[in-house]
Parts: sequence; C-alpha cells; structure tokens
Amino acid sequence: MQKIGVLTSGGDAPGMNACIRAVVRSAVQRGVDVVGIRRGYDGLLNGELVKLNRRAVANIIQRGGTILESSRCDEMKTAEGRRKGIQILEREGIEGLVVIGGDGTFRAAAAMAQESQLKLAGIPATIDNDVYGTDYAVGFDTAINTAMEAIDRIRDTADAFERVFFVEVMGRLSGFIALEVGVAGGAEEIIIPEKETDLEDLCRTLKESFKKGKRSSIIVVAEGNEVGHTVQIAQYVQFRLKANCRVCILGHLQRGGAPTARDRVLASKLGIAAVDAILNGRQGHVVGEKKGERVCIPFHEACERKKELDTCFLESSKVLAM
Ligand code: F6P
Repeated sequence: MQKIGVLTSGGDAPGMNACIRAVVRSAVQRGVDVVGIRRGYDGLLNGELVKLNRRAVANIIQRGGTILESSRCDEMKTAEGRRKGIQILEREGIEGLVVIGGDGTFRAAAAMAQESQLKLAGIPATIDNDVYGTDYAVGFDTAINTAMEAIDRIRDTADAFERVFFVEVMGRLSGFIALEVGVAGGAEEIIIPEKETDLEDLCRTLKESFKKGKRSSIIVVAEGNEVGHTVQIAQYVQFRLKANCRVCILGHLQRGGAPTARDRVLASKLGIAAVDAILNGRQGHVVGEKKGERVCIPFHEACERKKELDTCFLESSKVLAM
C-alpha cells in the first residue's frame, strides 16, 4: 500500500491530535504516504486533502480539538454520498483510510468498507465513551477530569450557600461520563439514562441527607436521561423540598482542553494499531483496548451492539455518598 488517508469526524475529543500524529508517524515509518482530509466526511466530499508528513504533526500531541477539523455529514448516510467519497479517494490513489470518531463516524466507514475495496480502520475517540468493544475511547479521560474539576469548584460555592446543585454533563444517550464524574466528584445522586430515576425517591433521599446533617448536595445529571431536562428536575426538587437549588450545565467545555497523559497514550497506541490493521489487510475494523489488550472489532459489531454500563457501580456509589 502506497497511500492512506486520515480524518476526524463527529464531536471532537481531546486526544484526536495525538491519534493523527501516531497515524502519520507510524505510516511514514513504514514507507506509506499520508493524506489528511480536512473537516471530516464533509471535507472528503469537497476534496479537501492535505499531505501530512512527520513535521506536519509536530507539537500537536498536547493540543485539544483537531488540527484536521471535524463535521457531522448527512450526505455520507446516503449511498450516493459515499460513492462520491470513494471515487475521490480512489482518484487520489488512497487505498486505506483511518477514521477517528464515534459510532456515526464508524457507520459511514462500515458502509464504505462494504461498498469498495478500501481498507478502513476506526479509532474510537469520543468523550461519551459509548463505543462497543473498547473499554475506553480517546477523550473520555480528559472530559471526566475536566468535569470533575468543575464539580470540585461548584462544591465550594454549594457549601457556602447550603445549596443543591444539579450539574449536567454530556454523554448523548449514555451515562458513562455522569457515572464516573459522579463518583469522582462525590456526588450525592447520579441521574443516568441507563437507570430509571424516580424524582420522589430523589427528594426523599435528599430530605434524609439534610436530616443527617448534610447542608449541600451535588446531583450529576446525564444530558440523555429520561426524567427530563435538568432545569425541570431542579425546579421539581426546589418546589417539593423548598430547597435552594441551582443548575450548572457544563456543556462543550467538557470537549476542550489539553488531553490527559492517559488519553495521549491511548491515542498513540490506537493510532499505531489502526495503521497496523490497514497494512495487514483488514478491511473494516475499529481498534480498541480491552483489559489493556489491543482488540479489533468489526465495524458492524461496534455500530450495532450497545456498550453496557456497570449499573451495580451506581448502586455502590450511593453508599459512598451517604
Ligand atoms: O458526542 C459528543 C457530544 O459532545 C455529546 O456528548 C453531545 O451530546 C454532542 O456531542 C453535542 O454535539 P454538538 O457539538 O453538535 O452540539
């Protein structure tokens, strides 16, 4: 193989740059040229290609965001859009493609792998950590550390005013961020999509904790929860308990910032693994890590199967919060 491409797609995640660096440097080392595709699949369809050499990826391992930029591209959900993308890659002599992102990114890649001779490899990079088959996605560790630091700060002001704070974290339809951040931040309650929450139960628990002497509380709310919007949840609790409630939506600040050492290392390992997978002739796989071991998961499996969250851990976390 002479030439491969690399792109980042979907929500950016800290560590994507470290992935790009690892892909470029490991491919160049093996005598393969690398072309960066700007602005994800949108950029592919516009032919926005840029040659990447070792120097082009210098000084990026520590940077958040993605030097290649990203997009969410509806056209790639259509066979016609993908045909156009495949033609552009073939015209440029690109025989392999590394896609860095989450399940939306892998769905398009899975279809392209079926519809062409291209070799495709996916690197899971999403703060949501919801990619099936890998314990961690690049960006998750940074996001939970960022959110935890925010919660530590909120705890100070919550204590000072004896308030109940509802802190909303990202995660789309999953509660991986909420659960880990909730435990790490010592949250009194964690509301996630994977577990039903009864607001009356929540009020009872809070009331009990006030009786036991707690003066402030932090409730971590996953944005994808099924109880309702965080503001509405807070209003309900305020009304029922006459408590002093506030809401803080952490939002996109969880997506930015310098990647942690753990994310940089994971990105570096998976960047090398993705190039290996392509050069070894694998046609459509996500590379990941399970219990510290490198794994390759077929795209269709990574896209179709749901990554399960350890809800028992949620129950244990309640013991610690009492
Ligand atoms: O998938 C990453 C993520 O940050 C989700 O947690 C969030 O729901 C979504 O992307 C936000 O997307 P956008 O940046 O397009 O608003």
